[in-house]
Amino acid sequence: MTHIRGLGYLRVQTRHIDRWREFALDGLGFAEGSGPDPDGLYLRMDERRSRLQLVPGDTDKVLAVGWEVRDQYALAAVREDVEKSGTAVTALTAKESAARDAEEVIAFTDPGGTPVEVFFGPVLDHSPLRTGFAQKFVTGAMGMGHVVLPTPNFAETVTFYNEVLGFLPRGAMKVGGPVRIRFMGVNQRHHSAAICPAPHDGAPGLVHLMVEVDTLDAVGIALDAVKERGFSISSTLGRHTNDKMVSFYVRAPGGWDIEYGCEGLLVDETYYTAEEITKDSYWGHDWSGSEPLAAFVPPGK
Ligand SMILES: [Fe+2]
Repeated sequence: MTHIRGLGYLRVQTRHIDRWREFALDGLGFAEGSGPDPDGLYLRMDERRSRLQLVPGDTDKVLAVGWEVRDQYALAAVREDVEKSGTAVTALTAKESAARDAEEVIAFTDPGGTPVEVFFGPVLDHSPLRTGFAQKFVTGAMGMGHVVLPTPNFAETVTFYNEVLGFLPRGAMKVGGPVRIRFMGVNQRHHSAAICPAPHDGAPGLVHLMVEVDTLDAVGIALDAVKERGFSISSTLGRHTNDKMVSFYVRAPGGWDIEYGCEGLLVDETYYTAEEITKDSYWGHDWSGSEPLAAFVPPGK
């Protein structure tokens, strides 16, 4: 069993911080939080001081996928497991951890090149949360959502998440020949991560981040709001076959997507078995209008 309880935070660097502000606050209804970099954009979804952290820089890339554990003992256990696998682990300083709004953080790189952080003791903000559409984000015991991570070292990356970090297999889908995208969970959310074969491990290092809200109306309102502001819809509304999410995908500034959905399945591990889906959606999710995702464009093109 894994020590990881959920996706805790995502830190991203971007060249387009002003466009991100419009995208996240006006388009997707995130609440503005606070954080250490005065030029950063800190986005609140719940009582955490921030969940999605954008900092300005000269490229668009993921800085850290932050996974949460219960406490210092669980963090020590994860550190031991990762070190035993031959992966070097760095303990962040108190100042660096404070910048992530966590008590203690360790960092390492997964076999796909993704910068990973594991933390405990997230800092809370008890002020009322005012989201853009009065929607509630579905977080709590299910974490902030899920990430889809691209990797050129697919088998090794899957093994690392399953066997070193202890993520549970939550099904797969063939994407050409015998190659399968693999979905993985750590809580009742169907998947907190999916691992996807990709031609490179460079920027941005993300395929998408999924966030879930409490009503279909909020999903529809967000879809209208991002369209009105000129953001590119990567996939139309649809319902997924594995996590049952009704969602759309919109291109974030920086070449990766935000999936925005509702009605996600709650997995009951008592009865669950890992299944292979043969279609990713029952209806909708038309990707024909999508601009190429940067994670799948070979370097130099
Ligand atoms: Fe997704």
